Amino acid sequence: MSFEINGKHFSQAPRAGQCLRTFLRELGHFGVKKGCDAGDCGACTVLFDGEPVHSCLIPAFRAEGHVVTTIEGFGGEAGSHPMQQAFLDAQGFQCGFCTAGMILTCASLNQAQRQDLGSALKGNICRCTGYRSIEDALDGKNNIEQAGAGEAFGRSLPAPAGPQVVRGAARYTFDTEIEGLLHIKLLRSPHPHARIVSIEKEAALAVPGVHAVLTHEDAPSTLFSTARHEKDWMDPDDTRVLDNVVRFVGQRIAAVIAESEGAAEEGCRALKVEYEILPHVVDPAAAIAPGAPVIHPDKTVAHRVANAARNIVAERHGEFGDVAAALGESAVTYEGTFTTQRVQHAALETHGGLAFFDADGVLTIRSSTQVPFLTRRTLADLFDLAPDKIRVFCERVGGGFGGKQEMFVEDILALAALKTGRPVKLELTREEQFISTSTRHPMRVTVKAGADKDGRLTALQLDVLSNTGAYGNHAGPVLFHAVGECIGVYNCPNKKVDAVAAYTNTVPSGAFRGYGLPQTLIAVEAAIDELAKQLGISPFDIRRRNTVKPGDPMLSPPASEYHDVFYGSYGLDQCLDLVERAMAAEAQAPKLSADWLVGEGIALTMIDTVPPAGHIADCAIALRDDGGFELTVGTAEFGNGTSTVHRQIAATALATTVDQIRLRQSDTAHGGHDTGAYGSAGTFVAGLATKVAAENLAEEIKRFAAGAMGVDASESTLAHDSLVCGSRRLPFALIAQTARKQGRTLSAHGNSAGTPRSVAFNVQGFRVAVNKGTGELKILRSVQAADAGRVANPMQCRGQVEGGVAQSLGATLYEEMVIDENGRVVNPHFRDYHLPSFADVPRTEVYFADTCDTIGPMGAKSMSESPYNPVAAAMGNAIADATGIRFTSTPFKPDRLFPALKEKFG
Ligand code: FES
Ligand code: FES
Repeated sequence: MSFEINGKHFSQAPRAGQCLRTFLRELGHFGVKKGCDAGDCGACTVLFDGEPVHSCLIPAFRAEGHVVTTIEGFGGEAGSHPMQQAFLDAQGFQCGFCTAGMILTCASLNQAQRQDLGSALKGNICRCTGYRSIEDALDGKNNIEQAGAGEAFGRSLPAPAGPQVVRGAARYTFDTEIEGLLHIKLLRSPHPHARIVSIEKEAALAVPGVHAVLTHEDAPSTLFSTARHEKDWMDPDDTRVLDNVVRFVGQRIAAVIAESEGAAEEGCRALKVEYEILPHVVDPAAAIAPGAPVIHPDKTVAHRVANAARNIVAERHGEFGDVAAALGESAVTYEGTFTTQRVQHAALETHGGLAFFDADGVLTIRSSTQVPFLTRRTLADLFDLAPDKIRVFCERVGGGFGGKQEMFVEDILALAALKTGRPVKLELTREEQFISTSTRHPMRVTVKAGADKDGRLTALQLDVLSNTGAYGNHAGPVLFHAVGECIGVYNCPNKKVDAVAAYTNTVPSGAFRGYGLPQTLIAVEAAIDELAKQLGISPFDIRRRNTVKPGDPMLSPPASEYHDVFYGSYGLDQCLDLVERAMAAEAQAPKLSADWLVGEGIALTMIDTVPPAGHIADCAIALRDDGGFELTVGTAEFGNGTSTVHRQIAATALATTVDQIRLRQSDTAHGGHDTGAYGSAGTFVAGLATKVAAENLAEEIKRFAAGAMGVDASESTLAHDSLVCGSRRLPFALIAQTARKQGRTLSAHGNSAGTPRSVAFNVQGFRVAVNKGTGELKILRSVQAADAGRVANPMQCRGQVEGGVAQSLGATLYEEMVIDENGRVVNPHFRDYHLPSFADVPRTEVYFADTCDTIGPMGAKSMSESPYNPVAAAMGNAIADATGIRFTSTPFKPDRLFPALKEKFG
């Protein structure tokens, strides 16, 4: 067979049944990505005789005699196709995993298709950007600013990896070749709850190419949590690498390690497992009722499980004042129960990794993780290895959103590498991602609220039941967060919280952007609106009357054990003003028939800028001989922009330009500890460590120049890549070379412990139209104002807001993992799940409050998670305003809205 790929001829024959995507990757075309292998995401797009196609759907042999172009061959090595340049100019990407496919599709559009991008781009999903920057690329917009030496902070500078991203040359987890690789496939439980009586391995081991079969008998008995936190006590020890009890459909039972994925799959099919079926429970209310099947009967408080006999993994209870009495005396009250569904992160790069031993015998794991350092720590504990005998690192991560603040694959990779001594690979399929990794915690939230006649809150009460699934990873911290800032942002003398996280025999929940707040905000912000409505006060004014102001305590019962949250800056008032003004501004009203009901809604959120109990970052920076700098940070880049912002911080502190900062990151082999890229800590915590390191190096440069070159340190400043003292100007390169002659490299460290913490704010507004005859919903206006302190990179920060709104709209309007009565995920594919595509996402107007944080680096605050949080709440309020009906269950799909609309409007 003969193929022409990127102008070169190949004569390799594909394997029987092989798709074009995997064939192209095996030939080294790593720009062809996998997001789904089912034709639903477009990450694998290539040009087939000049037409964009999903290569995962095309049998490889069909390419014979055709011309195939991947992103690598599209604009030549320089990536000089105008569409690649357009994506660079607009910075039309975040993690970049979708970008190669998106560019190839966009470049193929004709004029008519460009007029209908919703339809033309329906086959290419981007989970990060919210599509605005992609539309900007198509419109030829340039979103990039320039910055001179020392001026980088606060400018819209481009991502350093941009040129590689648009050429398909950025390296993600599997974009590398390793000799002698073995493949892991996992046999997963078909039962929601069962004890494994026996596993017959012989037939599997007899499959040609199978090297090993690992079961619970081969796994360490140590219990741990897949959740990664700086403090292990935050999560229960309730999980084993491979267990002899399975607690959800999809849990690992055995790992088959083979020469090929096909052999490993065949090995899985050949395994014979005998189960003792145990009773199961999938509903969290039933799970905590007396007599329910007990999911972790062997766990105790020593494992940090609050009440195993009642399937309660974590709980929080407390009251300030007397809520019941206050409600009785209030002028107006509201009570409602809200439910939120199970949704998936759907990062386009699935979980996976490679494990191998390096030349020094170090167990090396290259994985798609937000937390390399914490993963190494737990692997060392599990396998009784010295930390320096394990290295965990990532290059570029194809999206995370909290889902990769877990250890879902690295443990089995380590076990397989240790057992076989060979390099091993495990790449989850999209279906495995749905059925076996983590999701957002579904919650049932009952809110009670009261206010006096002047609209002052008198009582706020939350009753929360969170479904943590079969394991308690993140159960307690998510619950803590869910009942924290959502009522902490309101002054109210009487507050009460009763919150429980329940085990069920369903796929585990975990960390997800917003970390519990989006679920509870739907209820709290609805209650605030309903009180305002009863009193005839505007939604803006009731919030202005009741939200905390600098100096006010931010209280949520029970009394917090953490006392390190301060108003480093305060921009909530500005955010409310910005959204109110924007919503009131003239906008072209669409022509709608009388069937459409129009309404507006807002919601606000406050978020602590760092998770509690410590978040650590150690950074190192050194002056290179050429006058540039080598910056080493532990935090990972997964589209959150840290690689850009860290260089901006260092360049500003050292009076240079970002191109002079070479960044190494997310590798336990380099630099000090880093807790990880989660909790929006990439800028606030690791950025602060970078700032301290850079400032320390600036002082070191001054000290050295004073001693070795005779300048007065106290009179010296850094400016334009030099140390300036009076009329003398010593370029950094000269100082570095002088130090080198003395056998020195000028370097410094910086550290941040993640405390004290500040608070950030967001306000979202929607204008919507709801069709009373069908339940269809149109978003007429979407506005978000954010208090991100001094904005480090306005373009990227805007992208975080746009992407957060888009992702949250998915969870608000469409996305839902459906679980049947046996705990099985009914729709584990993108096609049946409905991720927002270009057509689904409105253009959100983004505004920033003008504040400067006294705690964050150079005045900045975090802004990765919080844009997500108020979206569903604001949408619920807008729909209520339009229809007069308070809908209380997400997603707000037309078929959910329709029955109540029909009842009210006929
Ligand atoms: S990987 Fe081919 S469309 Fe998703
Ligand atoms: S940039 Fe599109 S999926 Fe991440």
